[in-house]
Amino acid sequence: MIKVNPEKCIGCGLCVSICSEVFEMNSEGKSKVKKQKDSPCVKEAIESCPVNAIEN
Ligand code: F3S
Repeated sequence: MIKVNPEKCIGCGLCVSICSEVFEMNSEGKSKVKKQKDSPCVKEAIESCPVNAIEN
């Protein structure tokens, strides 16, 4: 299951730019998973997050 740790996320938005089919920003300016989807861009988003807030 793909998860974003809200305590770690600083809202940089990279994951949303890289993989908008899976991630979106919530009303607090942090990323959340909008859809569990086995997409290759998830791995890219995990590797790109500067604070390692994403797990799968
Ligand atoms: Fe947050 Fe990392 Fe995405 S900081 S907005 S989870 S790239």
